[in-house]
Amino acid sequence: MTRAAAAGTVNPDTQSRSANRERRMYDTPEPGSESKAVHRRDLLRWLAASPLLTAFAGCDLGLVERAMAQEAPARSLDDLVQSAEQALDVFDLERVAAQTVPTAHWGYIKTGVDGEGTQANNRASLERIYIRARRLVDVSNLDMRVSIFGREWPTPLMIAPAGSQGAFHRDGELATARAAAARNHLQTLSSVSSTGVEAVNEARGEPVWYQLYAPRHWNATVALVNRVREAGCPVIVLTVDLLGGSNRLTLERYRRIDDRNCESCHRSGGRADPVKPMYEGLPQGPPDSGGPTMTWDYVHRLRDITDQRIVVKGLVTREDAELALEHGVDGIWVSNHGGRAEGSGRATIDALPEIAETVAGEVPIIVDGGFRRGTDIFKGLARGATAVAIGRPYLWGLGAFGQAGVERVLEILIEELRITMGAVGTPSLADIGPHSIGVD
Ligand code: GLV
Repeated sequence: MTRAAAAGTVNPDTQSRSANRERRMYDTPEPGSESKAVHRRDLLRWLAASPLLTAFAGCDLGLVERAMAQEAPARSLDDLVQSAEQALDVFDLERVAAQTVPTAHWGYIKTGVDGEGTQANNRASLERIYIRARRLVDVSNLDMRVSIFGREWPTPLMIAPAGSQGAFHRDGELATARAAAARNHLQTLSSVSSTGVEAVNEARGEPVWYQLYAPRHWNATVALVNRVREAGCPVIVLTVDLLGGSNRLTLERYRRIDDRNCESCHRSGGRADPVKPMYEGLPQGPPDSGGPTMTWDYVHRLRDITDQRIVVKGLVTREDAELALEHGVDGIWVSNHGGRAEGSGRATIDALPEIAETVAGEVPIIVDGGFRRGTDIFKGLARGATAVAIGRPYLWGLGAFGQAGVERVLEILIEELRITMGAVGTPSLADIGPHSIGVD
């Protein structure tokens, strides 16, 4: 029995996953090696069909059939996806990752804050929106291209920053970068990554955007910004939604049922070193976050030390969008950190219209928070986003099958978006707007 089961703190479903994760801790399998299970019922089925067996005098076929009936319970959904290509939607990969990612790390992916109302509302609000499908439009040439800061991307789907990816698969951010390269998506690297920016850029084949948790000490910020500028990163994504801390109860619960020391999981190369690669060699040691002292002045200070574009991530109100424009930011990222920042209860898709109205096309707007289907991406674009970013879905793909899993997530979402655009008569992103959706 797992510790979780002994403590009686999780449901039976979680108990078997928990056992699975215990086996896999520190031992993430090679992508694809999960698919080798041979079931006893397959052997029985083969035996029943075998001429050898029927030729064998005295063999009781009824016995074999009875054994088959006993051995062949309804197939579980857990058996359905043995490789990345078999996933039909991103939730199929979530189901696999729930079994392969170690318990505490799974808690890190899953967690929201408080009772997770904000996280739930991100999804609920997206689902409340319907699409107004138009007919008899020529959709033989679908065009998803989008331009951000003078760079054209084939689709408006981006990879949001997420920390410690080595905890979900041993190739961590490198697997994500290779998948982003293979399918040509914009990737943003987290400050608290398991892999340094130089290696990630190499795996991506071009510099990624860099997400900055501003360190408390200014000279640490300068060192970090210099490092990523020298690495060629064109954009700093200044994250401003965690300055007051966050009350992550799911993470705490999963940590309590899986309190093994796994520092090496958070580092590329499996080194047991608690200092994250982006924080190595910083003056005054690894930083804590900028904390409650940061104000809009910080954007000006950043502007003074770098010519990189500055995108502010974590805005959810018109007032802050106005201030962001006043303070000269180059882009706005509408986000509540996937419901893991604050318990406001407000979905990002609902914050988007007032921000889009305020920005009025002056700077690009990126949105994240609960986007799980092509129809969701469509709704984000309809409410004024230039691009939509995903977090948890690609971590599910990564945890399930490494690079192949991340690629499959990107492929599924773009295929779903393609089908949606075709089905509802919007051949290009310019055709998608507030008129394309409604709310019941
Ligand atoms: C980091 O960005 C986190 O949400 O934990």
